[in-house]
Amino acid sequence: MGRLSGKVAIITGAASGVGKEDALLMAREGAQVVLTDLNEEAGREVAKTIGDAALFVRHDIACEDDWKNVVKATQDKFGGVDVLVNNAAILAYGTIESTTLELWQKIQRINSDGYFLGCRYGLEAMKARPSGSIINMSSIAGIGGQSSFCAYSASKAAVAGLTRSVAAHCRAQLYRIRCNSIHPDGIATPMVFNLNRDNKAGSGYVREKDPKQLQARFAQPQDIANVVLFLASDESKFINGAELRVDNGYLMWAD
Ligand SMILES: NC(=O)c1ccc[n+]([C@@H]2O[C@H](COP(=O)([O-])OP(=O)(O)OC[C@H]3O[C@@H](n4cnc5c(N)ncnc54)[C@H](O)[C@@H]3O)[C@@H](O)[C@H]2O)c1
Repeated sequence: MGRLSGKVAIITGAASGVGKEDALLMAREGAQVVLTDLNEEAGREVAKTIGDAALFVRHDIACEDDWKNVVKATQDKFGGVDVLVNNAAILAYGTIESTTLELWQKIQRINSDGYFLGCRYGLEAMKARPSGSIINMSSIAGIGGQSSFCAYSASKAAVAGLTRSVAAHCRAQLYRIRCNSIHPDGIATPMVFNLNRDNKAGSGYVREKDPKQLQARFAQPQDIANVVLFLASDESKFINGAELRVDNGYLMWAD
């Protein structure tokens, strides 16, 4: 028996990076997994690797109709939804002085609105099941605030607040549904490797030029997937509304 046997999980942004690793690990632990992404080709490829226990659905997390479609496709194929990993997001440079309203709104629409929609439709579907777990990918940027990523930091702080509100609601309603957020520092994924350095507008990312800092800062996708697995499983059934930092102590200080 795997740690997620009998559970059905939706993972957004599962074509790449952390979401891909989440899907592979959760399937290995016995879950049936629905992988969603804008990137159809890569998403279908990951689902193919997993086999019959996986379904890929094209999905823009900022689109409400797409969410309805993803939940329906999951229920039709696997009978319900027990776990939702709100993972897909975008990242772009921009300080408070260089971020345009257009960039700000684009990032909030995906990273914040998209997570609200996920919680809304995920929760609704989970109410029909014995228990549920919503896992929201935030960032240390959502706790500390990063100068180089103004809109992203705000969107990730919104995710943390949303998580706490959903958790409190589920507790008050006596739903057996939990909602927690994960706050990593850097993770070695295309999100950071493909970041457009030409747009760099601040000095916050100088640390990535130092190899020692790189080693201390960058988790592997598996390091995050292990935490997602724990929060998805019943092993964490009394953890609700938590903000789990996975940052190798980045927000601590030595004195
Ligand atoms: N990589 C890091 O350093 C880091 C650090 C902290 C937090 N995070 C968070 O971890 C999560 C996963 O990031 P990653 O590093 O694996 O990124 P990634 O860029 O490798 O993967 C993100 C995936 O989301 C998809 N996506 C983007 N916009 C979408 C949309 N509107 N609808 C559906 N899919 C969409 C992309 O196609 C991509 O496949 C994100 O929430 C990110 O903010 C990442």
